[in-house]
Amino acid sequence: CRVRHYKFNVVMKNTTRLCSTKPIATINGKFPGPTIYAREDDTVLIKVVNHVKYNVSIHWHGIRQLRTGWADGPAYITQCPIQPGQSYVYNFTITGQRGTLLWHAHILWLRSTVHGALVILPKLGVPYPFPKPDHEAVVVLAEWWKSDTEAVINEALKSGVAPNVSDAHTINGHPGSVSNCSSTDGFNLKVSPGKTYMLRLINAALNEELFFKIANHKLTVVEVDATYVKPFKIDTVIIAPGQTTNVLITADKRVGKYIVTASPFMDTQIVAVDNKTATATLHYSGTLTNSPTTLTIPPPRNATPIANNFTNSLKSLNSKKYPAKVPQKIDRSLFFAIGLGINPCPSCKAGNGSRVVASVNNVTFVMPTIALLQAHVFNVKGVFSTDFPGNPKVPFNYTGSPPSNLATTSGTKVYRLPYNSTVQVILQDTGVIAPENHPVHLHGFNFFVVGRGLGNFNSSTDPKKFNLVDPVERNTVGVPSGGWVAIRFLADNPGVWFMHCHLEVHTTWGLKMAFLVDDGKGPNQSVLPPPKDLPKC
Ligand code: C2O
Repeated sequence: CRVRHYKFNVVMKNTTRLCSTKPIATINGKFPGPTIYAREDDTVLIKVVNHVKYNVSIHWHGIRQLRTGWADGPAYITQCPIQPGQSYVYNFTITGQRGTLLWHAHILWLRSTVHGALVILPKLGVPYPFPKPDHEAVVVLAEWWKSDTEAVINEALKSGVAPNVSDAHTINGHPGSVSNCSSTDGFNLKVSPGKTYMLRLINAALNEELFFKIANHKLTVVEVDATYVKPFKIDTVIIAPGQTTNVLITADKRVGKYIVTASPFMDTQIVAVDNKTATATLHYSGTLTNSPTTLTIPPPRNATPIANNFTNSLKSLNSKKYPAKVPQKIDRSLFFAIGLGINPCPSCKAGNGSRVVASVNNVTFVMPTIALLQAHVFNVKGVFSTDFPGNPKVPFNYTGSPPSNLATTSGTKVYRLPYNSTVQVILQDTGVIAPENHPVHLHGFNFFVVGRGLGNFNSSTDPKKFNLVDPVERNTVGVPSGGWVAIRFLADNPGVWFMHCHLEVHTTWGLKMAFLVDDGKGPNQSVLPPPKDLPKC
């Protein structure tokens, strides 16, 4: 194993998309940002230098960060932000993981432009558990706003109503042919007939789940969230913000140009989406420039069966070499009702004296002013309390319309877990505004998705149907609209770990909480001491 050094200069860069130019925060002037390459077992040191006027922090999404929560990145959870003119070295070792992940800014909406790929190759000499592709490419999907995203978020916070949706989706930074302005700058993937390609798909969008499709080409799914799955062939991938998916394609045509699309998935019509389809091109070498292009029709925005077809096909590879270590006996059984609600807000300018809030078990999380991990390790009192409810205080009909319990309280509450306990969480969608698919991300762990269903979770019949053999292992899971998922993980990573909806607008409104995992008693079972350059609040 090696030590890899990266330097991330956070700088503003004038960037033109959709015929208009605006300054955006970037890493080293790039949108999307640079790809980090490492191998399993490597130690990675990334020096982040903040040259912009915003506070910055960077999260290495999906990296386990065993005992190194200081390098996890969410602002005010594991670190104070890196202030303008300051720097911080993120230092972590990649343990027992290989595959595609992403990194992104983790403070307010900065990740709209500050994000990129994190590629972990297997240990030297260790092959993939599928035929080696001839070539690999990183494909980052995201969103683009013509206006400043800081203004978009501030508007949502102030008024308590839904913020503007993006003006375009992007594939490796470009919208493709959505408008006359962008027709020439779409991402172009050159392929040679007969060769195989592995695409490392990443959804770095702020607020939208996306369908991904290539005209006349099947996709073989081999990995999600840096865990291997049983390979399956499919036409369309669904990928939520924070998720990653590796697919193999064979260039089985002789010549031609084939359109690649990224388009939104949202099964609720009353929630606004950016309905534009980003396009790119799969371009066979030797194709004449004026030869015809094969188009593809993206799924309609509410194509739930297409999304389910993908999700239901996911199973852990669960081979001898990569066994699925699914916790069979559970020490802590938790039930989290998650969703949006409406609270009074006399001072709000818009929204008729009310505003949208989001909550977990009726608690709207309030960001602290010093990082929770610091408060925990240095025993600073009064920053958080440990009374986060492990179950709804009063159970109600979560998927009734409207559900019967909408009252939320606010607070900075964490749920405490003993070291090495096995945990099950039922994530149950609820909400007055509309049922909505919430991609829930847990920091510091991978979890197994042992069950998924519609309606209210039934604690006597549903567990009998759980898959405890080869459930998919991930770090971000889509909780279906008006439904639930059951996840299981082993709390073997001491520290404070954020869990939240990866739709940034829902995080902003409070759909977030944190687990505090206690130190163990043995050696190598406690949080490592903080690095000297840890930012101060
Ligand atoms: Cu990818 Cu807490 O985020």
